Amino acid sequence: MIKIHVAASQQYDVILNKGILSMTGMYVKDALGLQDDPITGKLKNKKICIVTDETVDPLYGRENQTLWRSLTLTGFEVHKYVFPGGEDSKNMETIEELLEFLAAKRFTRTDVLLALGGGIVGDVTGFAAATYLRGIEFIQVPTTLLAIVDSSVGGKTGVNLKAGKNLAGAFWQPSLVLFDSEFLDTLSYDIKLDGIAEAIKAGIIAEPLILDSIKMKRTLDDPDFLMNLASLAIEVKRKVVEEDERDNGSRQLLNLGHTLAHAIEKCSRYKISHGHAVAMGMKIVAIASDRLGWTVENCSEDILEILERFKFPLRCPYSAWELANAAMQDKKIRGGNITLVVPARIGKCRLKTISVNKLEPFISYGL
Ligand SMILES: NC(=O)c1ccc[n+]([C@@H]2O[C@H](COP(=O)([O-])OP(=O)(O)OC[C@H]3O[C@@H](n4cnc5c(N)ncnc54)[C@H](O)[C@@H]3O)[C@@H](O)[C@H]2O)c1
Repeated sequence: MIKIHVAASQQYDVILNKGILSMTGMYVKDALGLQDDPITGKLKNKKICIVTDETVDPLYGRENQTLWRSLTLTGFEVHKYVFPGGEDSKNMETIEELLEFLAAKRFTRTDVLLALGGGIVGDVTGFAAATYLRGIEFIQVPTTLLAIVDSSVGGKTGVNLKAGKNLAGAFWQPSLVLFDSEFLDTLSYDIKLDGIAEAIKAGIIAEPLILDSIKMKRTLDDPDFLMNLASLAIEVKRKVVEEDERDNGSRQLLNLGHTLAHAIEKCSRYKISHGHAVAMGMKIVAIASDRLGWTVENCSEDILEILERFKFPLRCPYSAWELANAAMQDKKIRGGNITLVVPARIGKCRLKTISVNKLEPFISYGL
């Protein structure tokens, strides 16, 4: 079992273990500090809503399956909200529909949401939890590698607007994060790759051990390797989130490759996944930073070697102009300037603020 304690404005544990899904009810009860009814020996009058997508639901969300059984055995009154999933449904309509669902089921401030799925389900559920009745508790049960490596920890929640990615949201920490390594069994290679991209990002920012361990592997079939990778990446995120929960300083470093990734996702109308776009974004930033002499030690070759190892498609199909244009709505733009995260060397990145009209030439250097 791996257990990492996050001491943000809300304190919580991130627990990874094989088979832990069958103990979800007990862990949630403990994390929320709930007491059993003395007569029945179970919880009483406590609602929980599993929020999931149409792919994950038949795999792990059904009434006759492990999670549902564990929650009902503990005494939770279980409800479920299923939405299609994908970036196209990570929007305000889904949030509104989910909030109406909770109201129709008479969820109160002491009831709880549980996100069962990848980063999209987690971001949507967290945002709904942050806004329903001005905020109720929520649990993250991430089911993709990307979600356990990155998105389920740290409390960034939100949805896309037509204008761009993640433009509406809230900081809202979960009360518990539980990951069962058996989720890895049903993930495709490509979806695992998305998680590898975020792990590589954490490695470039602060933990060369992540990159060393990736360099020694050729396949993504070993769950112990992936769990170890996840724990190293979560540690990086924990430190940064504890230092700068609201993203005003060092947390911005976690955006390495993300300004371009969000632009690539938007240009592709979300056909290119987040993780794959992050890999392309990191490549562009690393090459441009080397060429401009912003790195202390040239590091783009190292970064490319790691990205190519797992055969990330790294050729970006968009021009510098298209990407710069798509990035104009980025949250990192302030007063005509944009702050980029650039590698100084492997294990250390820094923030570099440039005028927005320098963005297109910067991207050209990296393409
Ligand atoms: N909040 C944050 O801090 C943060 C950080 C990084 C990324 N994100 C967001 O996360 C999202 C990407 O997350 P993602 O890569 O997990 O995508 P996702 O949620 O779309 O999941 C990818 C696909 O895998 C399926 N899936 C999930 N678990 C599965 C399983 N165990 N077996 C089989 N299929 C499974 C999903 O249904 C989906 O089709 C993006 O929207 C990104 O912006 C948020």
